[in-house]
Amino acid sequence: MKTLTSESLRKMYLDFFKSKGHAVIASASLIPENDPTVLFTTAGMHPLVPYLLGEKHPAGKRLCDVQKCVRTGDIDEVGDSSHCTFFEMLGNWSLGDYFKNEMIPWSFEFLTSPEYLGIPVEDIAVTCFAGDDDCPRDEESANKWIECGILPENVYFLPKSGNWWGPAGTTGPCGPDTEMHIIRNHAAADKLASDQFDDAPKGTFLEIWNDVFMQYNKNEQGKYEPLAQKNVDTGMGLERTLCILNGKDSVYETDIFEKAIAKIEELTGHTYGENGQTTKAFRVVLDHMRTATFMLGDPKGVVPSNTDQGYILRRIIRRAVRFGRNIGLPQGALNEISKTIIGKYADVYPELVANAAKIAEELDKEETKFSKTLAQGIKEFEKVAASLPAGGVIDGVTAFHLYDTYGFPVEITVEMAAEKGLKVDVDGYNAAFGEHQAKSRAGSEQKFACGLADHKEETTYLHTATHLLHAALKKVCSEDISQKGSNITEERLRFDFNFSRKLTPEEVKAVEDTVNGVIRQDLPVVMREIPLEQAREEGFTGLFESKYGEVVKTYTIGDFSKEICGGPHAERTGLLGEFKITKQENVSAGVKRIKAVLLKK
Ligand code: ALA
Repeated sequence: MKTLTSESLRKMYLDFFKSKGHAVIASASLIPENDPTVLFTTAGMHPLVPYLLGEKHPAGKRLCDVQKCVRTGDIDEVGDSSHCTFFEMLGNWSLGDYFKNEMIPWSFEFLTSPEYLGIPVEDIAVTCFAGDDDCPRDEESANKWIECGILPENVYFLPKSGNWWGPAGTTGPCGPDTEMHIIRNHAAADKLASDQFDDAPKGTFLEIWNDVFMQYNKNEQGKYEPLAQKNVDTGMGLERTLCILNGKDSVYETDIFEKAIAKIEELTGHTYGENGQTTKAFRVVLDHMRTATFMLGDPKGVVPSNTDQGYILRRIIRRAVRFGRNIGLPQGALNEISKTIIGKYADVYPELVANAAKIAEELDKEETKFSKTLAQGIKEFEKVAASLPAGGVIDGVTAFHLYDTYGFPVEITVEMAAEKGLKVDVDGYNAAFGEHQAKSRAGSEQKFACGLADHKEETTYLHTATHLLHAALKKVCSEDISQKGSNITEERLRFDFNFSRKLTPEEVKAVEDTVNGVIRQDLPVVMREIPLEQAREEGFTGLFESKYGEVVKTYTIGDFSKEICGGPHAERTGLLGEFKITKQENVSAGVKRIKAVLLKK
């Protein structure tokens, strides 16, 4: 097998699929567009859901990309050899174009050809869907693999729990998949029956790629309806694949973290790998600083706050500060580490370079804020811990005090307690947190469970109203206003934008009147697909995150609003009802939030 770097693997993957007629599209933002049910983009297919459901993609029916993803369900596990909160997913898609007959030979070629990964055929095992009442056994994929050259004894059939992917949420596109594994332990893999696959000793098989044959939509009744088009969705974790192919024990030992590790070693005098405890601290800092850098540097930039994405970011930075202190990382070090990460990814994600000043400022601010209370908070925590018997429980009011006074996210208190064999009464903490805030925390946890936004009519109309609000804010308040975040449920829209103060009551009324004026004119919402550069020249607003020359979707509403956007939208503004601003909030010093609804006429 070849020794690969992250740069060469990305390029090799995209070049391969370009040679098979795929258009390379840019990574979408880490913050899902108009999707209220998840906080972050969790897979390459996530931004493509409308297209998997049948909408036409401007770049065609064959796409590939490297998508930045965040999965935060296991933050507390980060520090071991496998968990990461940020990763890149290499992926390719057929939107109603090719299917198993093409995809499986391509996967085989990419994995085994000496020009690409060059993995020996006998080291590859594949799993296919075993079949059930919803979908037949996938003999077709299995036969195709064997036809390509995979040894029949290395083909396994697994039920839904193993060989079915999606939907990403509770409803949406999904289907049987076939997964590719490297066999690391031939003695253990030898003569294993399919129903023993999951019980093979850890490390026998290492999964590197997943081809999903997305041909169903799981509906709200939990039924699998065939989709109008048959799609392919594949995902290969970049870091994981590098780690496996280069024979490393963890993703932290790949080229990705080389410079960052050297920086931490320089700043602390410790050596990565010297012992288990410092290794865990190194890994926590490495992972969390990479994730924080990407969140802060995203085109839709997140900043630390007490809700939703901002809360996760705060929790990640603070956890890094705490672990960093354990290895003597001095104040200000986070920024130094973040800079090495920006450098490593500069060519692939230029937004990190463009937002470098903001990343540095926000990291510094958050580190300074938490550092002020950290030592005191730890003292307080130690006092509480010492007063409890072994296996005791820190009560909710105390946990809330640690949060409120010392800035300890409750998850950090839980982790510190666990280190001492103690527990925390998290329910009691939530109660102390107050009904309103407790509800918002629960809301954000629910979002981790994933779930893609449906495209219900109400949501679509609120999306169009968001464009009108954006344009009205520019007219009424300041031309410099631009979108910093958007989150739409079927009940309300939520729009974050850069502005230094709350709107006055007069401005609120003027914005509402402006939006309602455009609604009354019943203007058509016109979609056009044009090259990105043309969109820029024609004055469309939007995140210019796409690649040069890429064709993008634009939505125009009269001469009032022009935005680059993936849709979907109402056909005409007249359908929207009456627009009303219900709330203004402060997100951070420079970012304000408006919540608004559409009242039925
Ligand atoms: N969507 C599939 C995955 O995330 C490819 O594994």
